[in-house]
Amino acid sequence: MLQSPGVLWIKAAVIYLIIGVGFGIYMGASGNHLLMPVHAHFNLLGWASLALVGLIYHHYPAAGSNRLATVQFWLHNIGLLVGMGLLVAVLRGNTSVEPLLGVASMVIGTAVVLFAINVLQRIN
Ligand code: HEM
Ligand code: HEM
Repeated sequence: MLQSPGVLWIKAAVIYLIIGVGFGIYMGASGNHLLMPVHAHFNLLGWASLALVGLIYHHYPAAGSNRLATVQFWLHNIGLLVGMGLLVAVLRGNTSVEPLLGVASMVIGTAVVLFAINVLQRIN
C-alpha cells in the first residue's frame, strides 16, 4: 500500500513535541523562562501545526501528495528550525539577527500560504 502523505508530517511533529517539551522541562527545572517563546512556537508551529497538517493530508491524500505539499514541508521545517535558532539568539540579546528572523518567519508564512492553496483547491 502506498504510504499516506500525512506520515512524514506526523513524524516531524513528534520530533518537535520532544524538542518543545524539552524546553518546557528545562524552563520549569531552571526557573529561567527566557526561552518561553521558543518553547511555545516549537510546540505550536512544530507539534500542533504539523500534526494537524499531517492529519488533514492523511484524510485528504489528494491535497497532500503533490509538489506544492513537498515544497510546503521543506519551507515550514527549514523556516522553523532556522527561525527558532535565530529566536534563541535574539532573546539572548543578539538583536542584529532580527532581520534574518523576519525572513525565517516569512518562509514559514509562505509554507502556510501553500497549505491554504492546497486545502482550498484540492479538498472538495
Ligand atoms: C512537560 C511539558 C511542558 C512543560 C514542563 C511546559 C512548561 C512551560 C513553562 C515553564 C512555561 C513558561 C510559563 C511562563 O513563563 O509564564 C510554558 C509556557 C507555554 N507553554 Fe509549555 N510546557 C510543556 C508543554 C507544552 C505543550 C505541549 C504546549 C503546546 C502544545 C505548550 C505551550 C505553551 C505555551 C503556548 C506557553 C506560553 C504561554 C503564555 O503565553 O503565557 N507547553 N510552558
Ligand atoms: C510564522 C509564524 C508566527 C510568527 C512570526 C509568530 C510570532 C509571534 C510573536 C512575535 C509573538 C510575541 C512574542 C513575545 O511577546 O515575546 C508570538 C506569541 C505567541 N504566538 Fe506566535 N507566531 C507565529 C505563529 C504562531 C502559531 C501558528 C501559533 C499557534 C498555533 C502561535 C501562538 C502564539 C502564542 C500562544 C503566543 C504567546 C506566547 C509567547 O509569547 O510565546 N504563533 N508569536
